[in-house]
Amino acid sequence: MKIAVPAESAEGETRVSLVPETVGRLTGDGHTVAVMAGAGGAASFSDHDYRGAGAEIVDDLDALLSDAGIVTMVGEPTTDELDRMASGVVLIGMLRARQNDALIDDLAARGITAFSMEMVPRIARAQRLDVLSSQASLAGYKAVLMASNTIGRFFPLMMTAAGTIPPATVLILGAGVAGLQAIATARRLGARVQAFDVRSAVREQVESLGADFVEIEVRDAEAEGGYAKEQSGDEQERQNEALAAYVAKADVVITTAQIPGRTAPMLVRRATVAAMRPGSVIIDLAAESGGNCEGTVAGEETVVDGVTIVGPVNVPARMPEEASLLYSRNLQGLLDLILGEDGLTLDFEDEVVAGTVVTHAAARAGQLTPEGGGDAT
Ligand code: NAI
Repeated sequence: MKIAVPAESAEGETRVSLVPETVGRLTGDGHTVAVMAGAGGAASFSDHDYRGAGAEIVDDLDALLSDAGIVTMVGEPTTDELDRMASGVVLIGMLRARQNDALIDDLAARGITAFSMEMVPRIARAQRLDVLSSQASLAGYKAVLMASNTIGRFFPLMMTAAGTIPPATVLILGAGVAGLQAIATARRLGARVQAFDVRSAVREQVESLGADFVEIEVRDAEAEGGYAKEQSGDEQERQNEALAAYVAKADVVITTAQIPGRTAPMLVRRATVAAMRPGSVIIDLAAESGGNCEGTVAGEETVVDGVTIVGPVNVPARMPEEASLLYSRNLQGLLDLILGEDGLTLDFEDEVVAGTVVTHAAARAGQLTPEGGGDAT
């Protein structure tokens, strides 16, 4: 089986889908791996490293893709790339299948079997394949460092000859994978950390990391699979009002709240930003899905009433080496499921395979609901 690794073409994308470690395992198992020249460069993996792992380095897109059995990507393919893929090829990437109807229709029409890695069911057996967790964890870590680079003050308590400086207060809204990593990172930097999530089940995890769980009265909103349910507009506004006092006192607010397949919930209103101390910083990790803060501009840093609001996009691409390494290991987990000794074995009885495939045999799979689940066609 030939596995092809194109260079990513989206602006700002620095990750590569397979790193030499995974390539070495695949070539060791007898597969051919072809990598576009320079594909791993921005993630610190050289063509030389790939050759050492047994890959062929190719500099022509047609030669890379036209006879590939599997194409692995980080993001979405370009039309140019799709035009070179044969019908029946397996494409694996973070295809944003829930938001990307036109692409999924196109993939089906081309007879491509596509796996969208964000669709991997979040069950214990599939944790190794869980790209949402691997990438969110990096984002949570980086968000704290971005905040510390943006704010004009220390995070830890500092005792100096000129007096004692109290620790910064960091408030994390949304204590899922990214939020928990942000808590751990801010604690390591010595900040006083508070956190809130609509899923009260995370309280214990928040506290075990040394943060205080913010006590406000809201209805628990845990849905199936550990995700949050969307709250009604009234519920969300009541929660926002109760949180406003905590936001106003924080030096740094990191927001990470998401509802799978929906626009991110609005947690911090403009009036709350205005109540913050000038010089405070908000890092809105939900910027790409609409933002948790009124005033967030995706991809930009804005200053509103003296408060800097950062709306970073594709944060994992700021740590390309490890983001690629973890993503590549996630892909290895899927490849292990679909590559048998005799080549491709697509077992749609397997819930991980069925949950992740989005097109097969020139048709869309039937599971593109916000919750996932359902059968492949
Ligand atoms: P996510 O990225 O969808 O959301 C981030 C966080 O925002 C979640 O903790 C969510 O509860 C919170 N949130 C949503 N709306 C909110 C609101 N209005 N106010 C405050 N917080 C809000 O979720 P993520 O981080 O990808 O995963 C969430 C959970 O899913 C994990 O903590 C875990 O329990 C579960 N999970 C299970 C896995 C498994 O294999 N069993 C793997 C990964 C996650």
